[in-house]
Amino acid sequence: MAVLKGKHIIVAVSGGIAAYKAIEVVSRLRKAGAEVKVIMTQNATRIASPLTFGEISGYPVAVSMWDEIHNWDVEHIALATWADAYIVVPATANVIGKIANGIADDMLTTTIMATEGKKLICPAMNSAMYKNPITQRNLAYLEELGYAIMEPAVGQLACHTEGIGRLPEPEDIVNWLELELYETIDPTRLANKTILVTAGGTQEAIDPVRYIGNRSSGKMGYAIAEQAAMYGAKTILVSAPTSLEVPRNVTYIPVDSAMSMKEVVDEQYPQVDAVIMAAAVADFRVAQVEEHKIKKKETMTLKLVKNPDILAGLGATKKHQVLVGFAAETKNLLEYGFGKVKKKQLDMLVANDVSQSNAGFNVDTNEGYFLYPNGNTKRIPNMTKRELARLIIEEVGNLLEKR
Ligand code: PMT
Repeated sequence: MAVLKGKHIIVAVSGGIAAYKAIEVVSRLRKAGAEVKVIMTQNATRIASPLTFGEISGYPVAVSMWDEIHNWDVEHIALATWADAYIVVPATANVIGKIANGIADDMLTTTIMATEGKKLICPAMNSAMYKNPITQRNLAYLEELGYAIMEPAVGQLACHTEGIGRLPEPEDIVNWLELELYETIDPTRLANKTILVTAGGTQEAIDPVRYIGNRSSGKMGYAIAEQAAMYGAKTILVSAPTSLEVPRNVTYIPVDSAMSMKEVVDEQYPQVDAVIMAAAVADFRVAQVEEHKIKKKETMTLKLVKNPDILAGLGATKKHQVLVGFAAETKNLLEYGFGKVKKKQLDMLVANDVSQSNAGFNVDTNEGYFLYPNGNTKRIPNMTKRELARLIIEEVGNLLEKR
């Protein structure tokens, strides 16, 4: 979480029942090296104790505009100037409405109005209040003004109903905040580095017109190659067939089968600094590829033989390279994922749950975990593949710096 280190962050807590969860947000931010000051509304102080927030943040909590407990002359301006980022967690419909309409009648709303740093809102409320067109209009307006809005989670709400409106888990909030703060790409961060990315689903020929394939669209791998090039890396994209446009400033090497992908990857491997294998590589190929189109018949049996594991081969011969794999799982994400980290000797693995409709194959979003060989995990909330690609490239940058 290098991006949070040394950052000045205001956590503003409004009077939603999820206010207590903000305590863990503050604690996680501090562990990540951020300096945190907390503002609470009067209502929030009825739900969670300012004393706890003060203890966890290490600073007195600002509640009233008229308290004289701090050193600043005009406290809300001093706080606003201090902040690199201002996050409202949880943000009630009332507070969202006030901010969107320029009402500044307490410490939270006056300070956010004076803040020039990044402003982020985590709405949490009853589903009907969240879906109310007034709330939606206010959120859309704030987004238009450049505020970042986190989508609430779906689940059991304080009012004993199920639906959208839950405050997401503190870990997800902090990861999202981190992502939002990566707003500027440093185009020189990976200069002098070469990154090889694989993408798409391999095609295993049956005869000249048929093949065995999978549902990979290549979107994840192409997004990673795009980000790697934007960060200044010499980027090689080894891609199975897709219908996507090749990103700018990327060396494109088309392949089709697992064997042809392996040949190219192995040849490039000694010269690269990192390999990111987002491709869905077929585990099997047809033993006997027919030279001519197979004629129709009632039944047909195909004999399959095992393909080599490209990534495991790279792990076994690793020298200076950083190796990142993916795991496409439908259950036991962490267990199976860590198994692959070990077996393939990876520096990091992106475990995605491909049974979810908004993650994995052929969609624009993804979610899951980053897994590391020391057993650490980092949860990745649902986000666009481009956002995830940026996180992956930032992590690869961190891993390369530690080399
Ligand atoms: O392309 P999209 O539609 O955007 O979808 C993205 C994705 C779901 C394909 C991607 O996010 C993903 O999960 N890619 C890896 C899919 C996969 O093959 O997972 P696996 O668990 O079977 O393999 C683990 C790792 O070993 C992967 O990095 C894979 O590239 C690699 N592998 C697998 C088999 C093999 N024979 N050789 C390999 O190198």
